[in-house]
Parts: sequence; structure tokens; C-alpha cells
Amino acid sequence: MVEHFRRILGRLSLVVGMLLALAPARTALAGPQNWLNPGGPVARMQLSLFMLTTWIMVGVFVVVTGALIYAIVRFRAKDPEVGAGAAATANEAAAAKEEDLPPQIEGDNRLEAIWTIIPFILLIVMAIPTVRINFAMAADPEGEPINVRVTGHQWWWEFEYMDEGIVTGNELRIPVDRPVMLHIESADVIHKFWVPRLAGKLDAIPGRTNEKWIIADEPDVYWGQCAEMCGTHHANMRMRVVALPEDEYDEWVDNFGQGPVVDSPEMLAVVERGKEVFQTRGCFACHAIDNTDFAGTVGPNLTDIGGRLTLAAGMMENTPENMAAWIGDPQGIKPGSGMTRMPVTADEMDDLVTYLLSLK
Ligand code: CUA
Repeated sequence: MVEHFRRILGRLSLVVGMLLALAPARTALAGPQNWLNPGGPVARMQLSLFMLTTWIMVGVFVVVTGALIYAIVRFRAKDPEVGAGAAATANEAAAAKEEDLPPQIEGDNRLEAIWTIIPFILLIVMAIPTVRINFAMAADPEGEPINVRVTGHQWWWEFEYMDEGIVTGNELRIPVDRPVMLHIESADVIHKFWVPRLAGKLDAIPGRTNEKWIIADEPDVYWGQCAEMCGTHHANMRMRVVALPEDEYDEWVDNFGQGPVVDSPEMLAVVERGKEVFQTRGCFACHAIDNTDFAGTVGPNLTDIGGRLTLAAGMMENTPENMAAWIGDPQGIKPGSGMTRMPVTADEMDDLVTYLLSLK
């Protein structure tokens, strides 16, 4: 019997210990998508709500479980020899059984009031900040926001800066400390925008615009991904939010679409040839590049492709080798994606990759 209780107590203390370990776990779970490590006010508000409800629930758990353990130990069945089992007649047995019972509290108004009022108070304590934070997130942010239309595609993200006339893919550059108003839509199926360190999830629904604002505290790269099952490459529908110091962001906006960045006449010649390949192989049917004749809208706008961190919506680093591999066999890397393989010779591929990577 004692062994049995010891085992139950052991298990319970393990659960309580795991719950108490939540706080240190916030730092232990360090990763680029760790929502317990917020990087902006929206994620911080949401985390504060999570921690408040978690600690209240831990308190409730400890009190209820403690009372349960006390009752189990205190009122457990006694030795059958002393009590009902030893009685001679049925009446005596019933009487003895009655004596063994703990005090009966059915209909005790005082106790019923206590266990109604305490949960009510706890719910109020959780409801007030919940409502307050929901209103704060729904209200317009302080300061002049940057408006970005976010469109989910199978399987990549399109970011259109509505006032700056900039369109990018899979990488959203923002200045720190300035609100960015996201107007979230979908071009095909339901996706979900999620950058855990900046804010909770919001659906991207065809035919509807959902709005949400974010602010990044520090210059950093905030990882995000689609959080709604949207097809075979749902897991490879990733994005990066790159928060820059204000001046660097302004510089990026000012220089956007200024054409290839070349450092020698030789490179310029290669870039010119690469541009030719882009044209003759029909890449422009799907992709746009600002300040050229290329204006396809099916795939991501490539105006700053050379300045992006990743390719194929976060699947791989943006290097010349990976770029050539991606163009050479997109269906091998991301089956079912909209990208088609265009036949190019090895020399043409070198020129094409040099051209694309010069676009910053
Ligand atoms: Cu888009 Cu999952």
C-alpha cells in the first residue's frame, strides 16, 4: 500500500516538476522559431497571457491534486478486520460501515460557495488581460505603419509593399521599431502566416483579407513558416522577416530594382548574357524583374533575388551552386511546385546564375 502511494507521489512530483521547469525552458528552447523568446510587442503580449494562464493552471493543479492525495491517504479503506468485516449481523455491519465514513458534506452551502467563487475569480483574472490584449492587437498601432500585402501561394510567400511599389518573395524586410501592417491574403488554398517570435498565427484565406500588425525590437532574422496544411510542400513554405536598422531599410527601399550590381566589365558581359538566357528560355513568363521587360506574375518577383538569404521558400541557402541546382531540377527538389525546368547548357546556367545573383 505504502509502496503504491509512493509511486503515485513520485509520478505527480514529476509532472509538477516539469511544469515548474517551464520558466528555464524558455531559454533552453533557443531556436529561430521559439515563440517563448518574443522579439516584438505583439508576441510579448501573447506570451504574457500564456504565462498568466499557465501559472494559474499550475496553481489549480497543485491545490486540486494535493486535496486529492490527502483524501486518498486520509480516507483510504481501513483494515477489513476492524469494521464491517468483523460484524456479526448485517445490521451491525451497516452501522460499522456508517461509522467508517468521513463526514458527509452534501448540500454544504459554504463549501459550494467557495468552489464556485474561486474559479469565477480565476476566470475574471484571466479574462480581463485577455480582452485588453485582444483590443490592443486589433487597434491601429502607434506610429506610421508600413503596409504590406502578404499573399500565400503553394508554396511560397509574396510580399507587396503597397506604398513603396516593391514586390518580393519569401523575405520581408522591415525596419526595427516601426509597425508593419500585414494585409494577409491567399492566391489558392488556405495558408497561415506565422513568424513565432513576432506574433501568433493568422490565416491567409482566398477571397478575404486578414489584418495584423507586427513590430520587431532588434535587427535580426526572424524565421517563419506556413502553419496550415496546404499541400505536399506545406513544410517548405517558409519565410524570413529581416529586421534592419531604419537607415539600412531606407537604403534598401531607395536602391530596390536598380539593376544588376557588377564590379567589372567582364562581369557585366556575363550578366548581359545571363539576362539573354532569362529571356530566350522564357523565365519571364512567370517571373518579373523591375526595370526590365520581364513582368511575369505567376512566380516570385526576382528583382532582389541576389540579396535574399534562401531559395525555394527557405529550402536552401542562396548560393550559386544551390541556384544552379534549383533551376536545373526544380521538380526534383520541390515536387509539385510551379517552377518548371528549362533546358539550359552548362555555360548558359553559369551566365544565368551570375545574372540572377547580381540582382540585389
Ligand atoms: Cu501554405 Cu501550409
